[in-house]
Amino acid sequence: MMTNIQHPAADTPREREPDEANIRALVEAFYGRVDEDPLLGPIFSRALTGRWDEHLAKMTTFWSSLVLGTKNYRGNVQEAHRPVDEIEPRHFARWLSLFLNTVETRYEPAAAVQFMEPALRIAQSLQLSKFGWDYQIPVEQQELLAALKRQRTGDNPEPRFPERPGAEPFPAKFVGKPADEK
Ligand code: HEM
Repeated sequence: MMTNIQHPAADTPREREPDEANIRALVEAFYGRVDEDPLLGPIFSRALTGRWDEHLAKMTTFWSSLVLGTKNYRGNVQEAHRPVDEIEPRHFARWLSLFLNTVETRYEPAAAVQFMEPALRIAQSLQLSKFGWDYQIPVEQQELLAALKRQRTGDNPEPRFPERPGAEPFPAKFVGKPADEK
């Protein structure tokens, strides 16, 4: 799909403030990982062959609307996923794992949460409409969303990120498997 994906070196300072340029870079890095992922890659290739550029531009607009308040995104997220009928619960776990990890690598925590909370909220609404309203959202995913919301609203007296077991990437706890396993 894309070449020359820039993975920031471990010592590259993370962004403090989201802006249009670093959101574009985030989108490119995330979909670069999606494209290489054995579980998600094929779903996206089937849907987006010949349309990747359009998708990346649309996703940059989408995240800019959410995080910068630019309000330029005109689309319907639910409708866009309706035709993608091969999506199973494990695909959400992988999508979230890759997204949260990519965000965490590129942004300081205060900026990162501005992407993480909407991603988890929208994922949840997509899961419920795909799998039925009685679908049980994985508990760890629910807890992560609740923790991020507490941080934003200041309900948590000592705001902090959820525990990161050992050297595991941040979201590994709730997906249960490292991102490179099928
Ligand atoms: C299992 C997880 C997911 C899969 C496999 C998936 C797959 C896709 C695919 C294939 C498309 C392209 C549809 C098309 O243009 O033909 C798409 C579009 C999109 N996805 Fe997802 N997606 C997932 C989760 C999410 C989540 C959690 C979000 C929200 C943060 C999201 C936001 C979007 C948006 C905004 C679009 C563009 C919608 C439009 O056309 O206006 N996706 N997704």
